[in-house]
Amino acid sequence: MHFHRQRHGQRILSSEITSREVYDSRRDWLKGAGALGLVGLGLNGEARAQTAGPGKLPKLPGARSSVAGATVMEKLTAYKDVTSYNNFYEFGTDKGAPAENAHTLKPRPWSVVIEGECAKPGRYGLDDLLKVAAMEERVYRLRCVEGWSMVIPWVGYSLGELLKKAEPTGKAKYVEFTTLADKAQMPGVRSNVLDWPYVEGLRIDEAMHPLTLMAFGLYGEVLPNQNGAPLRLVVPWKYGFKSAKSIVKIRFVEKQPTSSWTKAAQQEYGFYSNVNPQVDHPRWSQATERRIGEDGLFAKRRQTLMFNGYEAQVGQLYAGMDLKKNF
Ligand code: MTE
Repeated sequence: MHFHRQRHGQRILSSEITSREVYDSRRDWLKGAGALGLVGLGLNGEARAQTAGPGKLPKLPGARSSVAGATVMEKLTAYKDVTSYNNFYEFGTDKGAPAENAHTLKPRPWSVVIEGECAKPGRYGLDDLLKVAAMEERVYRLRCVEGWSMVIPWVGYSLGELLKKAEPTGKAKYVEFTTLADKAQMPGVRSNVLDWPYVEGLRIDEAMHPLTLMAFGLYGEVLPNQNGAPLRLVVPWKYGFKSAKSIVKIRFVEKQPTSSWTKAAQQEYGFYSNVNPQVDHPRWSQATERRIGEDGLFAKRRQTLMFNGYEAQVGQLYAGMDLKKNF
């Protein structure tokens, strides 16, 4: 982690320093959100998110979700950890690199193309995407394949709500997600650690499952750039890399898409990537995990749960499948 200078004796993360350009793009965000009535909705204790970020970004509150399993009753990972310990290779491979470098990402204007096997393909601007369904707050565990996890209050709606609008045809067996790869905004794209753009895929029933979240915010505010602004997937029962950030294209396809991680190392990252403590990564065990924020010298690792604890909700999707073969 890199620090810039001292202020009132406090160290300041470089990500906290707001450039003029970023300030302006946030004001644009605010204008857009304001037009949607998302700002200043008041703090109606029951209906509104119980959690709030530090107030650096425009507010994006969500009503408490009624989707089964959507609210994990565990201690939330601190906002500063959620936003400073990231994987977003487009901004570098160090955990601190996205927080440091992602200020160059411009989350507005933004649009997402929806195409492929569907009756109503189209391009959606961010303001339209924000209006597809009511915003909900969902507290999900997110476990990275590297063996660490967080508990994050996301804001968004079920991806299925958006997919339905495009009217997928009977040939739409899978959904492929492509994320932004712009050298001008993303310094990491100049390196060849991955075959850009970042691509991920889900089976159509996984994509339509109500737990699969199209996230636009966390901690009651719009997504910080390093967490995948302006919109990213969160698929809580799969390893974190399935949760593609800064999505620009959604394509319905007949054949199973090849994800960037599978391309990079087929024997390490299968298509399904369901969290499964019984299937080790070829280079390490997946039986336990480190909860970010609990990493004191004597902190105990946690047992990793089957499907990351979402087995009751999603186990049926994989009935009859050999999950050791389909890892
Ligand atoms: N999306 C893009 N576009 N690029 C990435 O490098 N990393 C993935 C996923 N989505 C990644 C991405 C991985 S490995 C993880 S663990 C999660 O994002 C991390 O999300 P977080 O930084 O918000 O916790």
